[in-house]
Amino acid sequence: MCGIVGYIGNSKASPILINGLLKLEYRGYDSAGIATIENNNISVLKNKGRVKEIQNMKEINYLESNIGIAHTRWATHGKPSRENAHPHLDNSKTFAVVHNGIIENHEELTTFLKNAGYNFLSETDTEVIPNLIHYYYSKEENNSKDRFVNAVRKAILDLKGSYAIEVLSSLESDRIIVARKDSPLVIGINGDEKYIASDIPAILEYTNNIYILNDGDLVEITNKAMTFYDENFKIIEKTPELITWDAKAADKNGYEDFMLKEIYEQPTSIRETIGTRLRPNEKCDFSEINISKEYLSGISRIYIVACGTAMYAGLASKAIFERLTSIPVEVDISSEFRYREPLIDENTLIIFISQSGETADTIAALKNAKAHGSKTIAVSNVIGSSITREADFTVYTHAGPEIAVASTKAYTSQITVLALLALHFAEILGSNEKELINNLKNEILELPSKASIVLENTELLKAFAKIIYNEKDLFFIGRGTDYAVSLEASLKLKEISYIHSEAYQSGELKHGPIALIEDDVTVVGFITDRRLVDKSVSNLQEVITRGAKTLLITNQDVSQDVFPNIVNIPKVNHLLSPILSVIPLQLLAYYVSKEKGLDVDKPRNLAKSVTVE
Ligand code: M6R
Repeated sequence: MCGIVGYIGNSKASPILINGLLKLEYRGYDSAGIATIENNNISVLKNKGRVKEIQNMKEINYLESNIGIAHTRWATHGKPSRENAHPHLDNSKTFAVVHNGIIENHEELTTFLKNAGYNFLSETDTEVIPNLIHYYYSKEENNSKDRFVNAVRKAILDLKGSYAIEVLSSLESDRIIVARKDSPLVIGINGDEKYIASDIPAILEYTNNIYILNDGDLVEITNKAMTFYDENFKIIEKTPELITWDAKAADKNGYEDFMLKEIYEQPTSIRETIGTRLRPNEKCDFSEINISKEYLSGISRIYIVACGTAMYAGLASKAIFERLTSIPVEVDISSEFRYREPLIDENTLIIFISQSGETADTIAALKNAKAHGSKTIAVSNVIGSSITREADFTVYTHAGPEIAVASTKAYTSQITVLALLALHFAEILGSNEKELINNLKNEILELPSKASIVLENTELLKAFAKIIYNEKDLFFIGRGTDYAVSLEASLKLKEISYIHSEAYQSGELKHGPIALIEDDVTVVGFITDRRLVDKSVSNLQEVITRGAKTLLITNQDVSQDVFPNIVNIPKVNHLLSPILSVIPLQLLAYYVSKEKGLDVDKPRNLAKSVTVE
């Protein structure tokens, strides 16, 4: 989705803006642009295509200014083109604006502005913003020192929808004004240098001191000062957060692709996510949430709500919650949950999972849940992200920045933290499953080293990728938590290799999908639940009999004579097995994508965080 960068300080702005945009490329985009102020005029360089196109324009060498704004656009209103790329100017070329989000009432505002004599050059919803600012600026008193900030404030009051904006004015060339509503924006500070971004990784190499803006915040930023206003336009004090992510974590660090790096980071990200929440022979420690035995004993249901991979992490965690707490758990997709009038009230606990914390449907579903009186817990990887500010409690995964569009280390960290939360709930409730709880805790502490073992075993996966990379359809099958991981494996393959695949519960094959099995169709099976080995083996034999070739991911004793392609993973309770069994399939999807010569980190049509509905 769209990305924003801005800079004001003592250095040349354009290299910092370009560098920031390159760091945001992972979000997915189709055009890019920057604006700086040169000799009291706004200079805009923008085009359809990659950031490199802007970087290679000869005009960029003439930009000397130390103030500027920049943007990568993911088209929503109007095709990818130079005209539709940001920054957008008002008719008088006095104001430049970049914008993330959607202005829902842009047609109404366009009509209003056209009647007031303004013209429009693009098909975007954004172009109303600089023209509205100009409209209000021209109505402010000439010598008012707050003329610019007042005009921006009045313009945003007219906007319906979501926005994070940066505004430059050639008449007040020493400042940038920024504002946000339902779209993230942060400001980093390092002495007199100020860095603005929609996502922390874009500016992490310059500073770890980051102001995280709230909905409704508006900030006037000059070289010397920052004035923060709240949604009522009252001046407020704000303190920066110290972000502990290492800037190197946002680089490839020698790996060919971010996705591969992130797959290999999983032993570390799982370990960091466990952190101090679990120590040998101690109770789980979740000091960040305050849930009582009285409350937990009274709830009728837990919902886990999320999108995409985060939702699949919820599905993989349902069994451990139900087994340990005896509370029924329902897992739902945010975009469905928010519109289907779910039966929720103050006796429902709802866990919202979002790596980015900015997924529009998940945020809307959370707000909806709160309106029904339900208690909410956010599980997120990004400090201060929108869902963390909306939810009653937040539990962070500590996976470090995830850059590749295809989520990998976030998934395993999410299941890890949810498993710990399930254990914590069981302990609060005084569960008498002491032995199971102790065993699961010990197994969780061993997960990082077991993940390292899985990552050493890649030869068969590389060879299998070479066999299947031209196929059109694949099947993934499993039972219970193995089915949950099949769904995630199927999504990973679709996203980055563009091969169609389906995940089925092994027991469902005979109810229809087995009709699709014929010579040489590939079926990937998961078997990690010792109670279901025989049944799962039979299901795979049924597809082999019909000509399928198979790849089996297992930690059980299964005969190599029947299944020639077996990836053995370390033994672990099936309630935790998705954390390990998904890794070979992340690697397989990666190798298939590489065989096809695709852009692994930036798959077509996809964005890292989906900030529009
Ligand atoms: O940031 P979120 O966890 O809310 O994102 C949810 C999904 O958009 C995300 O998991 C998506 O499915 C990924 N591309 C999966 O690899």
